[in-house]
This record gives sequence, structure tokens and C-alpha cells, in this order.
Amino acid sequence: MQPVLVVDYGAQYAQLIARRVRECHVYSEIIPHDKPVEEIAELRPAGIILSGGPKSVYSPGAPDADPALFELGVPVLGICYGQQVMARALGGEVAHTGIAEFGKTNLDVAAPGILFSELPVEQTVWMSHNDAVVRAPDGFRATASTPASPVAAFEAPDRGLYGVQFHPEVAHTPRGLDLLKNFLYHACDLLPEWTMTSIIDSAIASIRDTVGGDRVVCGLSGGVDSSVAAALVHRAVGDQLTCVFVDHGLLRAGEAEGVEETFRRHRGTDLIHVKAADRFLENLAGVTDPERKRKIIGETFIRVFEEVARDELDDAGWLVQGTLYPDVIESGTRSAAKIKSHHNVGGLPETMTFTLIEPLRNLFKDEVRRVGEELGLPEEIVWRQPFPGPGLAVRIIGEVTGERLELLRAADEIVYQEMKRAGMLREIWQSFAVLPAVHSVGVMGDARTYGYPIVLRAVTSEDAMTADWARLPYDLLERISNRVVNEVPGVNRVVYDITSKPPATIEWE
Ligand code: XMP
Repeated sequence: MQPVLVVDYGAQYAQLIARRVRECHVYSEIIPHDKPVEEIAELRPAGIILSGGPKSVYSPGAPDADPALFELGVPVLGICYGQQVMARALGGEVAHTGIAEFGKTNLDVAAPGILFSELPVEQTVWMSHNDAVVRAPDGFRATASTPASPVAAFEAPDRGLYGVQFHPEVAHTPRGLDLLKNFLYHACDLLPEWTMTSIIDSAIASIRDTVGGDRVVCGLSGGVDSSVAAALVHRAVGDQLTCVFVDHGLLRAGEAEGVEETFRRHRGTDLIHVKAADRFLENLAGVTDPERKRKIIGETFIRVFEEVARDELDDAGWLVQGTLYPDVIESGTRSAAKIKSHHNVGGLPETMTFTLIEPLRNLFKDEVRRVGEELGLPEEIVWRQPFPGPGLAVRIIGEVTGERLELLRAADEIVYQEMKRAGMLREIWQSFAVLPAVHSVGVMGDARTYGYPIVLRAVTSEDAMTADWARLPYDLLERISNRVVNEVPGVNRVVYDITSKPPATIEWE
């Protein structure tokens, strides 16, 4: 499928534009702004969108556009900074007008042209700029204006070139998605063909093509990404796939059984379930430092995986990895095959001779979830909240023991059940229990207790980079508190963590 390329002049805008294009059922990819035009042409784009960016076109070292880009015969839409670089490259004029526009602005459409076809002549758009195009390049027509932007939109449809000063990709521009659709469907002549079915079909074809008749291994963690990747590869190559699930004993209640059930019974997958809880606990004995815990868990994971690989998978050449598109964008190169430690607890041994296949590397998280649903994975797996690779070990402050694990698991299960009952699991980014290493005095049935507190942590977030504590209803907090104290022996108090990230982090360790 020919992509629409989003040229990145400032990452936060580019990702959003790429997502919006995909919402229009058109496949999009992000490329860096310094990619040479010849290489862009080799990607055979169906359209190109130049993103906004944080700089002024006049600031030293501000990225530019090669005029040859506009001669490829591929439709181009410049957004904000993208419109300005297009204007400059083609002989228009961009100026410090002295009037900045930030936020909601009224736009007057003088001529609908292609971009505003069937859209209102007056609409609200979201602006965020200091400079503005004051004269469109020769051959372009200015189609819309605002009080501070005389050329808030321009186009030269015969050359397939379009530009807007405002941000159609943000929700604050209510008709922005319609404008993007006009560009995609009418300027680029694309059809909304990039659907879940087409994503799955082409992934399956490409996996089959890549691995041929070879054996493939997938490390399952129970999380969304590895589960969907495994299900997709299984759909493609059936019993050529062996899944390895290393159960480190640091999972939530019922989690290991859930993974086993899903993959063995429902999908008929060849599954090696390595029950290694004792080994992990032994290695963690006496350890209280969070980073040492992570390191030990990572190393133990590698040793276990190596042993399985040596004993049972010696003829498998391919390893499935649940890498997602944001990781690919972050690493800056589409050919990167580096395994991030984040994905597999502590990463896999460097000496292992697998070649990676990453069937989700072009997808965002919400797309992965929809693929999972389409493949028939159960809701508990597809909509699972993120869970850290080192598991409950980073939610137990101090030493991880079997007893403390049991206690935390029981409290965490109550949190899960009550959040589920309140219908809040999906809207809350993560909700869980933490076990600190302190005791406090309580009174139960007229007797003194000296027990652990449980910390309830529930946060809202877009991407875990920042987070806010969730304003959970009081009655939900009350139910969780009552149940934890009544049902989990050794706990006599529940507290709620009301710290955002930053300055705290989501996990306690
Ligand atoms: P923090 O605690 O840094 O967490 O705010 C951000 C997100 O990352 C998850 N997390 C981890 N995931 N291995 C993982 O695979 C880890 O060591 C790890 N530490 C934190 C955390 O659950 C949150 O979603």
C-alpha cells in the first residue's frame, strides 16, 4: 500500500497527523525532514504532509524543504510551519507579522477550492504561530484568512500543492478531519482502504513471505503487544510458531492461567510454559534496591530463556517481537532491530542467533488493540492495562518474599475487581496496589493490630510520560478500602496516592 508520508518538522505534531491520516483509513508513515528527495521518491508516496514545528523559519538552522519535493508530482499539504517552508521554497513570502495567534481563531473561507470543499465558509480553527504567510507563491490562490493570517490557506490544485496555517489535526479544529479527508480523497485520489482486515491480511502475507517454512519463537509476557503479535504470527504460520511464556511468579492473580488458557486452548498454539517462580524468588532473596531487583529479574529471565532455547528451540531462526510504531519513531530509523530492555523485562541475550520479526512495528497501540479484537483475543488481554516487565516486584517496597507477594496479589485483585465493577478499567491508564515496607497500628474487633498499609495508585495518562492521579469516586475508594482491610490478612489501612508524574513516577520503584 502506497503510504502518505508525514515529514516531521517537530515530533509531537507529526505523530498526531499520522494518526489522523490513519483514522481516515489511509496508511501513513513518518519520515525525518532531512530525508533526501530521491529517497522520498523511492518510497512511492501517494501524498506528502509537511508537519508543523516549533521553530520560526527565520531562526538559525531552521529546517527547510527542498524545492524538488514539490516537483515530484505527488500532492503535498503543508501544515503551519509546513505551509511556511512550502511558501518560502516556492517564492512566496513569510513574515513576522507582529501578531501571534494562539488558540481558537475564526477562519473565513473565501473560496472552497479542494481543501474546504463542502465545509462551512466560517469555522473555528486552532492556531499556534508567530510568523505567517503574507503572500502566496505565484500560481497559488489564497483560499482562507483570519485577522492575523491573510493567507491562512492556499492551494495550487493543478500542481497538487496545498497549505494551511492552522492545525487541522487537533481536536480544537472541529472540521479538521474533514479537511484532511478532502486532501486525501480528493487531492491525492486515495480511497479509505486501510482497514483492520487489510492490515491483518497484509501482515499475514508478509510474515509468510518472510519466514517461509522456518520455525518461529515468540516470548509471551501476557501483555497486549506480545499477545497480539503472537496471535498474528499464529494466524500466519500456524504450528510453525512456538510461544514461550516465562512465568516469573511476579504476575497478578490469575494472569499466568489466563495466558495459558488463551494460547493453548483457544488458539491451539504450541506453548512452553516455564514455571520459574521459585528461581526468581531465590535470586531476589534479601534484595531491597529497586534497580538491583530489575537487574536480577532481567538476568534471570535471560538465563531461563537461553535454557529453553538451547533445549527445545535450537532450530528456530525467528523471534517475534511486539515492537510498536512509537518505538520505531523514537529510535529514528525504520531498520532498527534493537530489542529494548523495556519489552522483555531485561532484554534477550545478545548472543542468541534469532532474526527478529516485528509484525506490529507500523502500528500505534490503539491499532494493535483493534487487531487483537479482530483476531478474537479475549477482552481481558486486549484491553489490559500496561504492566511492568518486572511485575509485582517493583510494587513491593523492600524484600520480595512469597508471603508478601501473596498479600499484594490479593489486594491488587480486589482493586482490579472493584475497578472493573465500576466500569473504570479502560478509562484509567493504570490502577493497582502497592505494598510499602512499613507497619502501622490499627484496631479490629477491640484488639490492637500492627499491620501493613496498602497504597492504592490509579492514574490517568496518554503515554505514561506524564500522569495525573485519578479522581476516583469516593464510594469506589470506600469499597476498595473496606474490602482490602477485611479480606487481606495482615493489612489494616489503605491510603490513596494523590501525586502526579512528575514529580512522582507511576510505579513506586
Ligand atoms: P514510571 O514508574 O516510570 O512508569 O512512571 C512508566 C510506565 O512504564 C511502566 N514500567 C515498566 N515497564 N519494565 C517495563 O516493562 C520496567 O522496568 C518498568 N518500570 C515501569 C509502568 O508500569 C508505567 O506504565
